[in-house]
Amino acid sequence: MPIPPSPLALIPFVSVENMMRLVHHCGIETVLTELTDAVEHDFRRWPTFEKSPRLASHSRDGVIELMPTSDGDIYSFKYVNGHPRNGIKGLQTVTGFGLLAQVSSGYPLMLTEMTLLTALRTAATSAMAARHLAPRGATVMAMIGNGAQAEFQAWAMKAVLGIEEVRLYDIDGKATEKARRNLADSGLRIVACDSAQRAIEGAQIVTTCTADKSYATILTDNMVGAGIHINAIGGDCPGKTELHKDILHRASTFVEYEPQTRIEGEIQQMAPDYPVTELWRVVQGQAEGRTGHGQITLFDSVGFAIEDFSALRYIHGKLKDTDFFQHIDILADPDDPRDLFGMLQRAQAA
Ligand SMILES: NC(=O)c1ccc[n+]([C@@H]2O[C@H](COP(=O)([O-])OP(=O)(O)OC[C@H]3O[C@@H](n4cnc5c(N)ncnc54)[C@H](O)[C@@H]3O)[C@@H](O)[C@H]2O)c1
Repeated sequence: MPIPPSPLALIPFVSVENMMRLVHHCGIETVLTELTDAVEHDFRRWPTFEKSPRLASHSRDGVIELMPTSDGDIYSFKYVNGHPRNGIKGLQTVTGFGLLAQVSSGYPLMLTEMTLLTALRTAATSAMAARHLAPRGATVMAMIGNGAQAEFQAWAMKAVLGIEEVRLYDIDGKATEKARRNLADSGLRIVACDSAQRAIEGAQIVTTCTADKSYATILTDNMVGAGIHINAIGGDCPGKTELHKDILHRASTFVEYEPQTRIEGEIQQMAPDYPVTELWRVVQGQAEGRTGHGQITLFDSVGFAIEDFSALRYIHGKLKDTDFFQHIDILADPDDPRDLFGMLQRAQAA
């Protein structure tokens, strides 16, 4: 008979299947709206957090990253990859999993899938940024790049900002068709476009979310009219950008954590003194966001550990009194803390 692990050794694990059950139980709009508020809550207390650029292991095909942070009570990290050519092999471009732990003991509190959760938190972060930066009363968005993240982005803009129309464009028409199908019941008016130029016509919010390990030019300067908000999320790695640098010369640029974005964001194309504002300052009311009618605001998003922390805390809070998780004994926790070997021996005898 194997000896059962002690209660401290058992932590909740949220599988992909259970994450999907949880989202459907709560409703996608509720999850995106609550997650947007959770991310904003943590941006408001930004100085509390430990911050560092993420640890990235680059290869020819992509990147594998570890993203840790702590608020002094709770620690979190995410493992995430970015492999733009994975799609050709039938694999996801971005996958992840993450862990929440107690700072006081170092014991984990929860392990969860984070492929879906990353898409949800990235959409929530975009919506939170747009809430502070986009023109008031925006109703039309363009979504350029209609891959795995796209529908989450569109749905969050609808749920949080009241966006009514999404204009889709992807170099691969099959991706646009997939997004159009998946958003059919969203309540959004869907317009499939045959170029990025057509997609951004009449849009007050333009989200670029393409995957290509190159200095791509998804938007050129002449395409971008005054007064719009650009949410650039696909350029998130050294050597991987989406916007022509002339756009950045005209835009007011907002970032998550400047030292990381200087390495990974659109601003890697710019001089080190190119001015940026960390978004948490706008959220806290320390810095101005949108100041004028004709201003182009750019959220140069690369994804930061604090957003994953918010998402992990949010999911952990949802687990109480539910069955949206399994217990796993991820941690060896002998009755006598010094008798780790004895625990191993007794397991053989049992
Ligand atoms: N900022 C963040 O927090 C964050 C979070 C998640 C993903 N990302 C990044 O977002 C990007 C998209 O992720 P995904 O999971 O949706 O990837 P995906 O591979 O599923 O989709 C990317 C889409 O972009 C399209 N595309 C490529 N080049 C294009 C071009 N020139 N014009 C129009 N469309 C083009 C592809 O056909 C594909 O449909 C990736 O680069 C990823 O690293 C950023």
